[in-house]
Amino acid sequence: MPFSRRLATKWLGRQIVFFRELSSTQDEAKKRLFTAPSGLVIWADRQLAGRGRMARPWFSPRGAGLYFSLILKPPLANPLPLYGLATAVGVAEALEKVFQVPFQVKWPNDVLLSGRKVGGILLEAVSSSLIVGVGLNVSLRREDFPPEIREKATSIYEETGLSVSRARILRAILETLEPLYEAVLTAGFEAFSRAWKQRDVTLGARVVLKRPERVITGLSLGPAPDGTLRLKTSGGTVKVHSGEILMWEIPGWESRAA
Ligand code: BTN
Repeated sequence: MPFSRRLATKWLGRQIVFFRELSSTQDEAKKRLFTAPSGLVIWADRQLAGRGRMARPWFSPRGAGLYFSLILKPPLANPLPLYGLATAVGVAEALEKVFQVPFQVKWPNDVLLSGRKVGGILLEAVSSSLIVGVGLNVSLRREDFPPEIREKATSIYEETGLSVSRARILRAILETLEPLYEAVLTAGFEAFSRAWKQRDVTLGARVVLKRPERVITGLSLGPAPDGTLRLKTSGGTVKVHSGEILMWEIPGWESRAA
């Protein structure tokens, strides 16, 4: 049965364009932005120049991961970074339904499995629309990863030993994200705050956060309703708009480097 006949969504992914190879699904989505309907999905089997946050490359070998971008058009909730958090938690929920194991999220947009990064979300705002890129390591083996990310990254197969088709995973993700995006539009962060809290690996942990200009350490109080991260530091509580959590430590329990 064709993919879209089995997909139980109203608008998200009703139109999907699949490519064997692209430089980046983000770029293809950008090219089609002005003629595309909201909910268009660009999916590639392989990316030659997949990119992540902070101008990092996203390793996208053929057949081993899920790489797609979706287009969201106005009306959209504000501020837009909320969609990064919502997508991460929606992807985690969808994967839990498919694989029956708990996934975690890490501010702002990471999806983790057994404490290691298994997926990431890239948001790009173009005029008044949003391009949401999702990358997921599905069946990569540990030795497939470039050495510099081998310790921090993992794949669903490495952690669970389970193989599920990428089409089935994508369907579960789109079916979870559609009602979530609708709820975000009316309720903002409240639409997923509980789901986030249940899966937030750094909540209540001491974290080391890297920003371009400096490193901040503090206790993570979780995201604020505007999507920023609240950190209790020695100088008081601060709200951080962007950055990367390098390390987190739950007192008396475990310490992890990202
Ligand atoms: C991150 O964690 O840094 C975000 C990674 C986002 C990767 C995806 S793969 C599909 C889409 N196309 C890209 O070039 N990047 C995103």
